[in-house]
Amino acid sequence: MAVKLLCFMILFFVLIQENAFAYQYQVGNLQAWNIPTSADPKVYTNWPKKLNFKIGDSLLFLYPPSQDSVIQVTKESYNTCNLKDPILYMNDGNSLFNITSPGVFYFTSGVSGHCEKSQKLQISVYASDGSLPMPPAYGPGGALADSAPSYPTVFGGIPSGPSTSSSSFNIKTSILITAVIGVLICGLVGGKI
Ligand SMILES: *[C@@H]1O[C@H](CO)[C@@H](O)[C@H](O)[C@H]1NC(C)=O
Repeated sequence: MAVKLLCFMILFFVLIQENAFAYQYQVGNLQAWNIPTSADPKVYTNWPKKLNFKIGDSLLFLYPPSQDSVIQVTKESYNTCNLKDPILYMNDGNSLFNITSPGVFYFTSGVSGHCEKSQKLQISVYASDGSLPMPPAYGPGGALADSAPSYPTVFGGIPSGPSTSSSSFNIKTSILITAVIGVLICGLVGGKI
């Protein structure tokens, strides 16, 4: 009985941590922020696909500052490669974008011509209830800047019914799978469930 209790306590902490830790993601992994090479032309389209960005996480863009820069732009500017009036401009070569609110964020290079060559990145950040606010969130310092992930929402988010969005699927399935496997293991450890 005590073993089983311990097991469920461990499961509890694992579930909390899945949602509570902030991660710093290096954009493109090992590839620096630059025009995609012919070896990996879709690097910035593919890179975010398997990641579950959340509030508190950050994106690290690494590049030689003399050669490139990062701008956060609107959806329209992203689609048309309009570099004028970006929401945020970073050119220090080691640029950290802090995710402070849910929404869709659009980035490209501030260097003329790079956007057209697919140096552009779009990420979706879901709210803790799994929703994705559609009016784009404009950069850091938004209304949710000071909100930390709150623990009860980890559990509140699990059984919220069928989701038609394939992207919010990722967040919830990873937690759900952990929960199911955890409960099964805990059940086995302590005898009958
Ligand atoms: C993100 O946070 C880091 C560390 O707190 C800070 O150095 C950096 O300037 C922030 N980035 C932006 C774009 O505000």
